[in-house]
Amino acid sequence: MAGPLYSIPGTTPSAASADPPPAQPPVADGARTVAAVLAQTQAGAVMDELERDLVGLAPVKARIREIAALLVIDKLRLNLGLSAASPSLHMSFVGNPGTGKTTVALRMATILHRLGYIRKGHLVAVTRDDLVGQYIGHTAPKTKEVLKKAMGGVLFIDEAYYLYRPENERDYGQEAIEILLQVMENQRDDLVVILAGYKDRMETFFQSNPGMRSRIAHHVDFPDYQAADLLQIADKMLAQQHYHFGPGARAAFVEYLERRLTQPQFANARSVRNALERARLRQASRLFGDQERELTADDLTTISEADIRASRVFQDAAAAPKK
Ligand SMILES: Nc1ncnc2c1ncn2[C@@H]1O[C@H](COP(=O)(O)OP(=O)(O)O)[C@@H](O)[C@H]1O
Ligand SMILES: [Mg+2]
Repeated sequence: MAGPLYSIPGTTPSAASADPPPAQPPVADGARTVAAVLAQTQAGAVMDELERDLVGLAPVKARIREIAALLVIDKLRLNLGLSAASPSLHMSFVGNPGTGKTTVALRMATILHRLGYIRKGHLVAVTRDDLVGQYIGHTAPKTKEVLKKAMGGVLFIDEAYYLYRPENERDYGQEAIEILLQVMENQRDDLVVILAGYKDRMETFFQSNPGMRSRIAHHVDFPDYQAADLLQIADKMLAQQHYHFGPGARAAFVEYLERRLTQPQFANARSVRNALERARLRQASRLFGDQERELTADDLTTISEADIRASRVFQDAAAAPKK
């Protein structure tokens, strides 16, 4: 091939001047130890945060450490004048909704930036509609525009398999895939693509798009959370928003989770977030009802047992007892 058919500018002065000045990744020139690279780039701090802030996800965290190890060792090699081909870092994140794919991708972008792999470290999240046009000639400009925005960072394509519609022979998604493939190959030192979605659909997509599969170096599986993880996630979410469970409320939430887990449309940590959001609404209505009472900090931060038990999940169960 003569060269990239599609080359997305990002490093040109004109493109750079339109953006805010890129945050330069800290360098670790002269570092000779893993600890020195981690400290000087502050990648170690991001990894510690990931470990601390995210509940469970042991296999995911292990994969991220592996990827970070590769980059740190590359840096040490470079410092000793050993050249290293820029590694391919495109990834697929597969798992059910609410398992933390988007959250981890954001952290990943920061780690890659700290280690100097990408210039800016931002994340651009898109779906098929952002890449594919409705009419002939619209897809290439749309896809290129998105790629331009993502250059120097991470392009996160949610439900990436929708780019490929085998039932429609003339689907424009194919055009977007071809442009992506070229840029993923030719500009991989400045753009990391993460494909996300359900595991089985992604597998089918890769089977029909071997070119895409061959460019993805890291496949990361996001397992469903266990009830205990979800409870811990709930505690963290509440604490972050300055709320806590009152007497009996946490036990009620455990029961809530047990019921909710078996229902359709359960979306892991996202369902926890939504449930807590509704509990907050009920708390507010409860407090709102008593207009003359002086509200203490404790009143304002406590989610009561009743706030949890008023959920439809309990009412449905009462109306239709288990067979
Ligand atoms: N391991 C975790 N620890 C704490 N919060 C989490 C965890 N995983 C997901 N969340 C929270 O759950 C919500 C959904 O996560 P998200 O990353 O959007 O999932 P996905 O992209 O897989 O659908 C977000 O609010 C996120 O902060
Ligand atoms: Mg997501």
